[in-house]
Amino acid sequence: MQRLTNKRVVLGVTGSVAAYKAGEVIRELQRAGAEVRVVMTRGAEAFVAPLTFQALSGHPVHRELLDPGAEAAMGHIALARWADCILVAPASADFLARLAAGRADDLLTAVCLARGVPLALAPAMNARMWEDAATRANVQTLRNRGVLFLGPEEGGQACGEEGPGRLLDPVVLAARLGELFEVGSLQGRRVLVTAGPTREPLDPVRFFSNRSSGRMGFAVAAAAAEAGARVTLVAGPVALEAPDRVERVDVTTAEEMLAAVSRFAPEADVFISAAAVADYRPREVRPGKIKRTGESLTVELVPNPDILATVKSRWPQVFCVGFAAETGDLDRHARAKLAAKGVELIAANLVGPAAPEAGGVFDAEDNALTLYWEGGSMELGLAPKDKLARALVAAIAQRLAAWEAGGGGTVVSLHRR
Ligand SMILES: Cc1cc2nc3c(=O)[nH]c(=O)nc-3n(C[C@H](O)[C@H](O)[C@H](O)COP(=O)(O)O)c2cc1C
Repeated sequence: MQRLTNKRVVLGVTGSVAAYKAGEVIRELQRAGAEVRVVMTRGAEAFVAPLTFQALSGHPVHRELLDPGAEAAMGHIALARWADCILVAPASADFLARLAAGRADDLLTAVCLARGVPLALAPAMNARMWEDAATRANVQTLRNRGVLFLGPEEGGQACGEEGPGRLLDPVVLAARLGELFEVGSLQGRRVLVTAGPTREPLDPVRFFSNRSSGRMGFAVAAAAAEAGARVTLVAGPVALEAPDRVERVDVTTAEEMLAAVSRFAPEADVFISAAAVADYRPREVRPGKIKRTGESLTVELVPNPDILATVKSRWPQVFCVGFAAETGDLDRHARAKLAAKGVELIAANLVGPAAPEAGGVFDAEDNALTLYWEGGSMELGLAPKDKLARALVAAIAQRLAAWEAGGGGTVVSLHRR
């Protein structure tokens, strides 16, 4: 069966010179089995007459937000409810800016804002517009909110320049949109992931931190999204892009991470604690930069909250996965952590000199994990972090199903919407 069979797609068309290609997009979506309704911006109408898309989609084109007739029949809320997903192709630079700003001053932005379904954007614009800092920031903001970007691709442009900014090929667009509806092992689940280090300030210019790159946690978030979950990623300071379809929340300290996690945990089915949270923070953050005196300096450290243990004790219905990075005696430490935190699964690995083949693990491309749960364990051998993350997510899905079958997670089933 085609992936878009019986799927309802709202196709937004904005004022790009590539608007004429939206006709082909309609055709490809229909070929993949989708039912399409078109919403055009004013800008789009300057390039293509609505009648073209009406003829191709077989339905009148939606154009006005403040149209009393349309509001009674198929207004912005009704359109948003009707859709299984929204695709904007082409998406202009101005449209990205309006969406990033949360505006709802025309029908298409209002539909996007009112949606409860996936939103994919296929930008098309001059390469310099795409690379401009304002557009980069808007794209980042939207990606962090879980919006999926499809393209643009590189190549010759209508303006005669070369570079990134061409609308993705309509055949590819329809195929990539179809991937949104792939059924995976965590389909419909809500997964909360933490990643990266935390930073614990000592004074305005110094902090305590660790060598976590966040790569493993980001790979796990990407793999969970790929497996069909709705993923929220709470990230410490890292130099990584949010994976597609993942909502990202940036934090700095352990306490901020706990606050962010506490906002999302009540709704989560699974919590994966992959962040290397600092165990301690300076008792006092000095208001001014500490000066060199030639004397030795003592800094008192106080324990940080234990985020994993806190989630498990406050929300026992959440299936909790912890990571344990050990410098030796993996089995004993991992089993002790499993018991101490009361969590369902521990993914453990050796770090430092004990794991020379993984380059000490932090910042390395490859990793190996051993999974421990009550009454069992399993090896996931040395592999690139993205491949390992997929194997981990598959194992989590299996253990989650077994745990729920055994009565775990029953509290949430009373509240699950
Ligand atoms: C000939 C012409 C071609 C344009 N092509 C693009 C384009 O490919 N991408 C883009 O982002 N803006 C393009 N623009 C600018 C947009 O049309 C303009 O920003 C408009 O306000 C977008 O409105 P909308 O996003 O509501 O459709 C073009 C403008 C003109 C006059």
